[in-house]
Amino acid sequence: MNNPSTVSRYSPIIIGLHWFMFVLLIAVFATIEMRSLFPRGSDPRDLVKALHFMLGIAVLLLVVIRLGVRLSSPTPAIVPAPRSIENLLAKSMHIALYVFMIFMPIAGWIILSAEGHGVPFLGLELPPLVDKNHALAEQVEDIHKLVGEIGYYLIGLHVLAGLFHHYIKRDNTLTRISLINKKS
Ligand code: HEM
Repeated sequence: MNNPSTVSRYSPIIIGLHWFMFVLLIAVFATIEMRSLFPRGSDPRDLVKALHFMLGIAVLLLVVIRLGVRLSSPTPAIVPAPRSIENLLAKSMHIALYVFMIFMPIAGWIILSAEGHGVPFLGLELPPLVDKNHALAEQVEDIHKLVGEIGYYLIGLHVLAGLFHHYIKRDNTLTRISLINKKS
């Protein structure tokens, strides 16, 4: 399935999705942080929250596509090859990020369903995933918030690792996912 040696870059769809989802995730975090700028029950607060929900669902849709393409297309090798412990760390981080991008939107969808609210998405209302259950909503919200905080560190570490590979180790980790294709 994955033959690392035949390609030097990820496929254009993976590269496009990587950077689009990076911006999308920043927007997902920014919208929910912005809610504290507005009083409870106000229109702007409801708007930024609705945007958070909608952008979060978009993450779920895109991550499914991304995972499908990722698992069915070749993975470019890192040159020079990192040590096996570094490969293991990178793989664990990538799995953690995929789990995060799948878990968070589903948890959010469960919160709104358990609160008895609809989930807005591009003018539609998504069906509830669970019946109304106040206690469940609170429990899942606590987990969603905790994992959300962990997400800041995961994404931060992922960015630092990419920069470390590019500027310190000087390998092709970052260029294989870069939007600019500089042939050397
Ligand atoms: C990748 C997707 C998502 C990420 C990274 C994310 C992240 C977060 C973060 C960081 C918070 C704030 C935590 C805090 O203030 O302590 C939050 C709150 C929340 N999120 Fe998400 N979220 C995502 C998707 C969703 C989706 C799809 C929904 C609903 C459909 C949702 C519903 C909520 C709710 C209800 C809250 C609490 C809002 C409040 O207390 O005012 N989230 N989320």
